[in-house]
Amino acid sequence: MDKFRILGGAPLAGRVEVSGAKNAALPILCAALLAPEALVLENVPQLQDVGTTLRLLGRLGVKTAREGARVTLEAAAVDSVEAPYDLVKTMRASILVLGPLVARFGEARVSLPGGCAIGQRPVDQHIKGLQAMGASIEIEHGYVVAKASRLRGARVVTDMVTVTGTENLMMAATLADGETVIENAAREPEVVDLAAALVAMGARIEGAGSDRIVVRGVERLHGARHRVMADRIEAGTFLAAAAAAGGEITLTGALPDAMDATLDKLREAGAVIETGADWIRLAMRARPRAVNVRTAPYPGFATDMQAQLMALNTVAEGTGVITETIFENRFMHALELQRLGADITIEGNTAVVRGVPRLSGATVMATDLRASAGLVIAALVAEGETVIERIYHLDRGYEGMERKLAALGARVERVS
Ligand code: EPU
Repeated sequence: MDKFRILGGAPLAGRVEVSGAKNAALPILCAALLAPEALVLENVPQLQDVGTTLRLLGRLGVKTAREGARVTLEAAAVDSVEAPYDLVKTMRASILVLGPLVARFGEARVSLPGGCAIGQRPVDQHIKGLQAMGASIEIEHGYVVAKASRLRGARVVTDMVTVTGTENLMMAATLADGETVIENAAREPEVVDLAAALVAMGARIEGAGSDRIVVRGVERLHGARHRVMADRIEAGTFLAAAAAAGGEITLTGALPDAMDATLDKLREAGAVIETGADWIRLAMRARPRAVNVRTAPYPGFATDMQAQLMALNTVAEGTGVITETIFENRFMHALELQRLGADITIEGNTAVVRGVPRLSGATVMATDLRASAGLVIAALVAEGETVIERIYHLDRGYEGMERKLAALGARVERVS
């Protein structure tokens, strides 16, 4: 299993190109199931989760081809409607095939995702929405089995804001008979990007980006081309790294308009940030100031940036309070940060981080994708060498992290 060896203490300087967004690419890849013709996607990041999704779609009978950042998918001869346990257990986003399969083929069998490192993460809202659209759903031998001769439009109010839940229901509704209204919809930019891809395929969708999405079902969708949006979490991770380590970096191919909450927090921490339509420059000349963070659905502060801001707070001036409201167990990185000398007290969903003048390198273990990003940031500022084990968690969602960090002057080495 690969590890990262990071020699901390150097400020970051230089330029990095942001990759396509993992959490937009995954649902859009699954949307290819909705049409028999080719969906051609640009700016698809090279990530483990993308590889897993392509393998899953391949098992269903989708023809997939990858050429650099371009992926072509053709779902003309789908011959299975089953997402098996061995793939779903490695990636919860596999649940995103449920809506498209039942909408186009009238049937789906998707292994129930179960728990994961950051919390319980049930899929009851996906199920409730599909049931409202007329699907019969049973749990059989650990699988969600959904059937419907044709889904029909319905009004669905989700109990909480759910990103992949909104995406699954929006995809299902594109081929339903009549109009579907999704209330309490997730407003994440990735939902908007998926809607744009679906509209390019012939779907009729209004309101994506608001909490009320209206989908008028059509008989069939067709092939299309789409460019996946930039990854706002990857971009935010590099900015938080530079804010913690100091220096000046420029991100290109970025989407600053989707990053207000993160940019505001980094400014509050003392960073000087300039933005253009597709670039962001951050300069940090002093020790960061501690910031309070409360995660919330978009446009609030993203839970996927929480670990990175916690890492920033560990070396900041003052005390920062971090409240995690989306997932019940997303503080695993705190214990590892303590191994580097961080002063963190956790009570329930709140972490109180008292900034220390310096961290010191040690061996730590990555527990999930964003936790590992937080550890990378802490390692970049720690004195001496930090070894981060189980870096495969990072590979799930960051394309070429060590190459990009090295381009910014960081001393990072991958050890196999
Ligand atoms: N929830 C339910 N029932 C459901 C659906 C969700 O109780 O049927 C709960 C969850 O347990 C959680 C909350 O609702 O407490 C929100 O979960 P959501 O469904 O929004 O999360 P998700 O769709 O499974 C996506 C991202 C995550 C990101 C969250 C929150 C993808 C593929 N994944 O997950 O990304 O943290 O939204 O923004 O889009 C990551 O990239 O590291 C990552 C974990």
